[in-house]
Amino acid sequence: MTARTFPESFLWGSATAAYQIEGAATEDGRGPSIWDTYSHTPGRTLNGETGDVAADHYHRWAQDLDHVAELGLGAYRFSISWPRVQPGGSGRFHQAGLDFYSRLVDGLLERGIRPVATMYHWDLPQELEDAGGWPVRDTALRFEDYASGIVAALGDRVHTWTTLNEPWCSAYLGYGSGVHAPGRTEPAAALAAVHHLNLAHGLAGRVVRELAPTAELSVTLNLHVIRPASDSAADVDAARRIDALANRAFLGPMLTGAYPADLLADTAGVTDWSFVRSGDEKVAAVPLDVLGVNYYSSTLVRAWDGHSARSDSDGHGASAHSPWVGADDVDFLPQPGPYTAMGWNIDPPALTELLRLGREYPGQPLMITENGAAFDDAVSADGRIHDDRRIDYLRRHIGAMADAREQGVDVRGYFVWSLLDNFEWGYGYERRFGIIRVDYDTQERTWKDSAHWYRRLAATGELDQARD
Ligand code: FCB
Repeated sequence: MTARTFPESFLWGSATAAYQIEGAATEDGRGPSIWDTYSHTPGRTLNGETGDVAADHYHRWAQDLDHVAELGLGAYRFSISWPRVQPGGSGRFHQAGLDFYSRLVDGLLERGIRPVATMYHWDLPQELEDAGGWPVRDTALRFEDYASGIVAALGDRVHTWTTLNEPWCSAYLGYGSGVHAPGRTEPAAALAAVHHLNLAHGLAGRVVRELAPTAELSVTLNLHVIRPASDSAADVDAARRIDALANRAFLGPMLTGAYPADLLADTAGVTDWSFVRSGDEKVAAVPLDVLGVNYYSSTLVRAWDGHSARSDSDGHGASAHSPWVGADDVDFLPQPGPYTAMGWNIDPPALTELLRLGREYPGQPLMITENGAAFDDAVSADGRIHDDRRIDYLRRHIGAMADAREQGVDVRGYFVWSLLDNFEWGYGYERRFGIIRVDYDTQERTWKDSAHWYRRLAATGELDQARD
């Protein structure tokens, strides 16, 4: 048996997102978001499920924070619903919405838990989508205004402000493949959305610096670990192209103040990028206190020969339209198992590989802001949920993170996805990621074995790796 020890200063947390847990979709003046519209459109989500009720966290938040406290976690990552605090996405702020998040933040502080607030976890006010959504520049300016309102209200009571969650998904799944809201399939719009999300990040980051100078600033990216199927020049080039679309389209402007030249060249057939105005990339490069990284599984690519059967197994949902705009000649290969209930391959060493990016950006601390797994949990006769596969997944990935730390990477914290079972976007309620089970008939919360395991890890900092 080997036990690995994390220092006391290492931050253990759990993560959630507003639309996935809050419910109360029309209560207290909340306006509609693109996810309300999308989930209420027949055929868009599994079984037509919506976030109308979700885990009813809007009413049960205090009890949910008690669970975070009982887990002994140092931080809680949640998101603010834009249409709850500024229903139409512009103009006056809505006091009832601000009050909800103010109570939540105070509730965390009273329990000794650091609030880590994400400004945008995909629930764009519908009115802004009606005016063009992320492909239009004005949405970034609206976001700056929204950021001013929430930072003015919550300020440095929030320990860490995260501007965006996974802008990759907002842009490419929302406007490219259409498997996320708003469900558009327009390649050029997807790239314009990439840019306006980068710009929005920078504008909101400046707001945090001005209005909450003692708060930390971050963004969360779902960086992809992309491996070529062979070392042929064509496969290696396919991996480079996907790396540009998946990773460097965001890391470039945000960390170095420029889009990579190869990304602009690769996508020249889709757009001329004329929506990038002089100075935008510098705005996007607002210095970050911590870069949030979400990781679940890895990606294997090859150059497509133009005639053999494609597998398109990129793990990002089925659509006739690819999220990989301008890269139709790249195929995504199935990976060896085991898999989670999402069909995602389990590949912990890829997390170590991913975190090495910390060495490419020296001086940039990292945080894992999401990692976790959906499995078909069963409630046993004893009333418990023996989710050994989830524990094994977490143990191996936390071990992979420890490997990166031993290699000198500055990873400061880990947030398990997720605190609670919740609305898993297009997959509805079928896919359960929580370390706490939610019975959607009664809204009862039950700790799974993984919650007990995670509590022990957070309390002792000792990772038991006996099975490896
Ligand atoms: C991430 C999302 C999060 C959740 C997990 C499983 O892409 O940020 O909301 O859906 O995947």
